[in-house]
Amino acid sequence: MLEVDDVTKNFGGLVAVDDVDFEIGDGEIVGLIGPNGAGKTTLFNTITGILDPEPGASIEFDGRDLVELETHEIARHGVIRTFQIVRVFDEMTVLDNAAAGALFGSEESLSRAEAREHGREALEFIGLADKADLEAGSLPIAQKKQLELARALAADPKLVLLDEIASGLTPGEIEVLTETIRRIRDERGVSVFWIEHIMDAIMSVADRIIVLNSGRKIAENTPDAIRQDADVVEAYLGEEA
Ligand SMILES: Nc1ncnc2c1ncn2[C@@H]1O[C@H](COP(=O)(O)OP(=O)(O)OP(=O)(O)O)[C@@H](O)[C@H]1O
Ligand SMILES: [Mg+2]
Repeated sequence: MLEVDDVTKNFGGLVAVDDVDFEIGDGEIVGLIGPNGAGKTTLFNTITGILDPEPGASIEFDGRDLVELETHEIARHGVIRTFQIVRVFDEMTVLDNAAAGALFGSEESLSRAEAREHGREALEFIGLADKADLEAGSLPIAQKKQLELARALAADPKLVLLDEIASGLTPGEIEVLTETIRRIRDERGVSVFWIEHIMDAIMSVADRIIVLNSGRKIAENTPDAIRQDADVVEAYLGEEA
């Protein structure tokens, strides 16, 4: 479904993403891990059109080349992300935040009423429906993160990219969120590409894990194999994982 080939991103002399290749299949949950500064968010930014990769890269989604497309066009094709630092519209209601996702999603020319309906359905799926009329800025962080996920789902995505959506949450909140991510795949058929530093969370749901270190892909395997990969342990996990 997503096929990434030869993606490099330089910032001046720094190679933030270094010739990375991988694929994500229909209905897969794939984890992306690696140390701070490894290039994980930069890779997401190249896939979602926020940054242009260096020439020679190919990023195909359902057979379409995303490299030349703008972020909003990529969203129309069903590739939707959340942000490492939450970006909800604080002054809008929770429902309108979710509806905004629908307006920029894969279904074009929705009316506001239809967008709200998609928004409400996504809030119900995530478990935020009882907060629909609150100002989004008043939510605690865990619920803002849930709202970002609801906004993404309201767009009716085929693939969601989640950037550290579990960070800053309590263990109980992480468990709920992890279960929600599993349901997103199982019940809605959405593929998930998930950056996370919380290993228990990502290892428990991912079918496959990709590891970046200094911009390079150093491993790609099942969670169990990744835990035992000597290069990954040395670069990132340490002995206790
Ligand atoms: N817009 C930018 N301009 C210059 N350098 C950047 C820019 N964005 C990221 N970098 C640098 O690129 C490298 C990769 O950063 P990136 O944010 O992709 O890492 P990350 O793997 O997401 O890290 P973290 O786990 O801390 O979020 C870092 O050295 C970072 O300082
Ligand atoms: Mg990051």
